Amino acid sequence: MPARRCWGVIPAAGIGSRMGGDTPKQYLQVAGATVLEHSLGALLECAEIAAVVVALHPEDSRPAHMACFEDERVIIAPGGAERSDSVLAGLEALAGRAGDSDWVLVHDAARPCIRGEDIRRLMAEVNARNCGGILAQPVNDTVKRARDDRTVEATLDRSRLWRAQTPQMFPLGLLRDALAQARERGGAVTDEASAMEMAGHPVLLVPGSPGNLKITLPADLPLAAWYLGHPEGV
Ligand code: C5P
Repeated sequence: MPARRCWGVIPAAGIGSRMGGDTPKQYLQVAGATVLEHSLGALLECAEIAAVVVALHPEDSRPAHMACFEDERVIIAPGGAERSDSVLAGLEALAGRAGDSDWVLVHDAARPCIRGEDIRRLMAEVNARNCGGILAQPVNDTVKRARDDRTVEATLDRSRLWRAQTPQMFPLGLLRDALAQARERGGAVTDEASAMEMAGHPVLLVPGSPGNLKITLPADLPLAAWYLGHPEGV
């Protein structure tokens, strides 16, 4: 049986409305490069990843000026209306190159501080357990569930709560089918794992690093710059 190869997909077609401003967050500058260049560069540094599909807004011409897009392992696909549509478009762009049993690592463009050692830990645990998995962080805060009037309905058991990060690593065929099913059902799919869970597949939680933050608000940029300047982590 041929070895299962690994592919990357980076959804980068969002407009990042919570950041304010005209520039989508993946094109903001941090530590000498755009957020997207850091995220893409981290996946390209993994020799195990055969190629990386970047899903871009169809009218986005910014990558034409970015050196990392000249890498022959980069494939461009047109993104969609929702994050999951962009991921599906990325998976479809791999048709003909990748097999259904190959692994795909989906990584948010907006997570520029991902470290190679965390990607390798995810790959090692997913391969060892032969079970799709995601990087995640145990929750440290006490977590409340709110009612509509913003009073507390319940305090959740934080010992079993994790914050999902990316990359998220699954067999390509199962992920494509799970995302397509979730789209038909119309449920909210904010990451790949939720589509896999809905389809009844197990998802392994692999401890990541606190520095693998998702750029969402303006205050996240200086934090990301700090983490990029301290790759040894905390
Ligand atoms: O908005 P959010 O932070 O959840 O976006 C996560 C990632 O999904 C970002 O990298 C963003 O560019 C991407 N995205 C996309 N297509 C969309 C919406 C978001 O590729 N329609």
